[in-house]
This record gives sequence, C-alpha cells and structure tokens, in this order.
Amino acid sequence: MADLESPSRPLRVLVLISGSGSNLQALIDAQGEAPYRIVAVISNVADAYGLERARRAGIPAEVLNHRAFADRAAYDQALGNLIDRYQPALVALAGFMRILTPGFVAHYAGRMMNIHPSLLPKYRGLHTHQRALDAGETVHGASVHFVTDELDGGPLIVQARVPVLRGDDAQTLAARVLAQEHRIYPQAVRWFAEGRLRLAEDGRPVLDGRTLDAPYRLVD
Ligand code: GRF
Repeated sequence: MADLESPSRPLRVLVLISGSGSNLQALIDAQGEAPYRIVAVISNVADAYGLERARRAGIPAEVLNHRAFADRAAYDQALGNLIDRYQPALVALAGFMRILTPGFVAHYAGRMMNIHPSLLPKYRGLHTHQRALDAGETVHGASVHFVTDELDGGPLIVQARVPVLRGDDAQTLAARVLAQEHRIYPQAVRWFAEGRLRLAEDGRPVLDGRTLDAPYRLVD
C-alpha cells in the first residue's frame, strides 16, 4: 500500500514580513531539509525586499498595504482572510512591523510565532540593540516565541545569546544577533513541523514532551 503522507506534512507555513526578509530567507533555505513548506509570503510594505526573495524561491508573494484600510481592525480582518486562503498550519512573523489586534492573535493562537532581536523579556519593542548597549549589557541575543496579545511577551521557545564586544555599535551588534536569528527561527519552525513543539492549554510551550519553563538555549 502506498505510504499515505499525513495531510499536515509537510507543514504549511505562511510568513509575514515588512522588510529585508533575511529571516524569511533562512526559513526558505532550511525548508529543503525540514518537513515544512512556505506556502506564501505576505508583506504590508510593497517594496519589501523579502517579496523578491519569495518570488525567487517560487513562493507566492502578496502585498496587503495597511494604508489602504480605515483602521487596524479592518486591516487585520483582511489580512486574516488572505492568510486563511492559504490554509497555513503556522504563521511565522519575520520582521512584520505591525501591532496585531487581539482578535487576530486569538485566531492564530498556538500557531503563530515571532522572532525578536533581544533576550526577552528584556527589551521588548524597538531599538533593542541600542538599548542593550546603553544599559551596558555584556550579553545580548534573540528569541523566538509564540504570539499572544502582549507585544513581544508570548511564551518563549528558543533563544541564542551573543557577546556584546568592546567597540560594538547598534549595527555591529545587530549583525551578530541576526546571524543567530537565522539559526533559531528555522529550528523552532522545524520543531513545530516535526510535531515536537506545541503550545499547551496552560499557555506554556512543550518541546519533546517537556514543558519549557525557560526557553531552550541554542548553543554552538
Ligand atoms: C529582525 O531583527 C527581527 O528579529 C525583527 O526584525 C528584523 C527583521 O529582519 N523582528 P529581516 O527582515 O528578517 O532581515
């Protein structure tokens, strides 16, 4: 009898972007060896370079410009409708620079992730690298988390740490962190696609049957 592939494998992943899309690229590059496929990329910014990356990889790339909508709720409603046409099992925010409405977040509860350039819960929001430098941190990093209503506050899945070096500025530090982002995001999506990672009813992530009370730390 033919091996009936589970309808959920490869896992259908949709990526939301607003800019360069280097994290998208990392997810594209990893999908050959992991049981997920990026079924579409949506940007709220028409000239986001990530759209070009998607097209080059043969992935449908769509623009939904927030400026064309009266308010946040109307945009999120349209965005949800567009996303759901692709029937993703996971929505991956990859530099998607929008605050999401509670209804939108609830609709994708347990199946939406974000990557953030800090060791959360430190430095939610913007300008994380400069803020880490200003605070005199010696260690900085990146986090992947499930998305909840709290901005950059959802349950942490995986983190990677980098040293802050003497002479760093926000740009050099950002580049060091970004290289780690490109490791941890594909890793988290792969775990989810492999069925090893889920968000439990109690709101905590479970990896390989164990509740993650602290994020998994990816080390070299
Ligand atoms: C990354 O630093 C990500 O953590 C943050 O926005 C940046 C997006 O970079 N949310 P890119 O578009 O993936 O290159």
